[in-house]
Amino acid sequence: MTTKFENVLNKFSENDWFSILTKLLPDIHEVDRNAVQIWFRFYPLELFRALQAAENKDELLQKFVMQGNYELKNQIDASHKFLYGHRYWKNVKEAIEKRVENFSDENADLANETKQIAKTVAEKVKANESLLLGITAVGLMILVQSGLENFKNAKGAIEKPKGLMKNSPEKILAERAKDDSQGLFGFLKTIDKKWTVTYDETASDARFKLVHDEEIASASARDQSKNWREKDERCIEGVVPVECRSAACGTCWIGILSGAEKLTEVSTRERKQMKVFGYKQPEDAKPFLRLACQARAHGAISIVIPPWNGVFGKKVYRNVEDVELEPATTSAAKLRETITTATENN
Ligand code: FES
Repeated sequence: MTTKFENVLNKFSENDWFSILTKLLPDIHEVDRNAVQIWFRFYPLELFRALQAAENKDELLQKFVMQGNYELKNQIDASHKFLYGHRYWKNVKEAIEKRVENFSDENADLANETKQIAKTVAEKVKANESLLLGITAVGLMILVQSGLENFKNAKGAIEKPKGLMKNSPEKILAERAKDDSQGLFGFLKTIDKKWTVTYDETASDARFKLVHDEEIASASARDQSKNWREKDERCIEGVVPVECRSAACGTCWIGILSGAEKLTEVSTRERKQMKVFGYKQPEDAKPFLRLACQARAHGAISIVIPPWNGVFGKKVYRNVEDVELEPATTSAAKLRETITTATENN
């Protein structure tokens, strides 16, 4: 049986959540502003509902060409590691559980609810409320997608941040804004400039180099410092999962925590394909959700890699017109077959 609080939360659609998020955004600390928006796109509510409602979930998963760890209930404590607010997760989780118990207002406003919970935690942990808002919104969505029992059973474990994330929000923002020095005569360099791509701000060594104007996926492929495939079977080259390298499969989607403005603009093809895949890329010319095989960088950036990928835009959002897919890899035939199945009408 679901609680009153869950019943209220369940009334909201994915678009409602996006509107609420937009409303909260100015009050969310800049250190987490992109991160929260990325997180909500990494775990789409409508995809969760489509899978939940499926008569044959396995069949639908196959149709959506789903790969990797897509279910929030399996990563209640970990999915938000890339948020600064992750360090307050245990307290946020406890506050949400408490709210579930004492909630009675069925006409509650979700934005206000989020603010209230964030405020309670902020007072308890003596931190600014702006640092709690994002992780609280994330926590409420986790409750929706994992159910109260799973939510409560999670330990509330927090990973102690290393790397950039161990710093203050101000220091993190200052570091993100920096570009690599190109040496004394760097201003004379044109094509051989190199930039740092950070792919996990919670680790001290999670970065690789990118040559000026190179696609993020190609740069990632050159980094053979670890056995990436052992960690994630989608990683056939570097740390960024890839398959087609031509905007045809959706494997290489990433969030841009900082430096989106240092990437090339989204091409017509990338824009169209993101819709086909179902990834909710904002309309901006240089948005915070990209395909790593398409976006080229001309400065240092910080990215976050989602633990899964799929092709579900047409069936879940029903906003995709006829699609032409031109995969150009060795596995092109198989790819075309699976993606055509995933995008054809019921
Ligand atoms: S690798 Fe297939 S879309 Fe980028």
